[in-house]
Amino acid sequence: MKNTVLTFRKARQDGERIAMLTAYDYSMAKLMDAAGIDGILVGDSLGMVTLGYKNTLQVTMQDMIHHSRAVSRGVESALLVTDMPFMSYQTSVYDAVLNAGRLVQEGCAHAVKLEGGVEVAPQIRAIVKASIPVMGHVGLTPQSVNAFGGFKAQGMNEESARKVLQAAEAVEEAGAFAVVLECIPEELAALITRTLSIPTIGIGAGKGCNGQILVYHDMLGLFSDFRPKFVKCYAELGGLMREAFAAYREEVRQGAFPGPEQSFSIGEENIEKLY
Ligand code: KIV
Repeated sequence: MKNTVLTFRKARQDGERIAMLTAYDYSMAKLMDAAGIDGILVGDSLGMVTLGYKNTLQVTMQDMIHHSRAVSRGVESALLVTDMPFMSYQTSVYDAVLNAGRLVQEGCAHAVKLEGGVEVAPQIRAIVKASIPVMGHVGLTPQSVNAFGGFKAQGMNEESARKVLQAAEAVEEAGAFAVVLECIPEELAALITRTLSIPTIGIGAGKGCNGQILVYHDMLGLFSDFRPKFVKCYAELGGLMREAFAAYREEVRQGAFPGPEQSFSIGEENIEKLY
């Protein structure tokens, strides 16, 4: 069955938790879809985990469209949400609608995600009016890394917590179908989840949310630059991959790869005829 924004709404009503992961290419999306992951986010985190940038600020519309198209070919059931990159929606309501439209038309996304609260409410409202579902994102919003002075947990005191709550309320009021809560205290996330009527998807926001999302490089141990506290590593594939690469290098050096099983043959007698 295909997941849609209605599936997300029903999951919240029925008290079923929503599992989301990020993906950036066809093969990975296909594996996640087959595993029953409810929603796949083509996150602008791709700038860090696949392109090697220090943050998400250099990611372009072209990057997002390219990866979103690839992911869409691997998705059958999951809801495909694609991130709006830095400066694709902050500049104006017009830019926001135009770029959200490109992510749907060219990137084959079912919905878009953008960061912020009250300040982006007009953009969310206009995109939703253009019949494109929007997922909000509040708390630690990585596109504001310079304004925050680093990747820091948000809502850690009363004033900051109130701001995050107001941001989430503004996002819902503007028409978003769901909202990501990133790196905020679990008590605040639980309060926001009780206050809103749309699903909350947590990352570093405790278990009181309606769903969870992780960057797959983190949960598979593939990203070694840093590992946030909220990540649970479900498999240490980074180490296994390094071992496999080293074994391959050794076999190539020793002449052990390729062996007869990996080679094609027409027999020496046919080769002799070529002399
Ligand atoms: O870009 C991303 O991967 C995200 C998730 C961390 C929610 O926004």
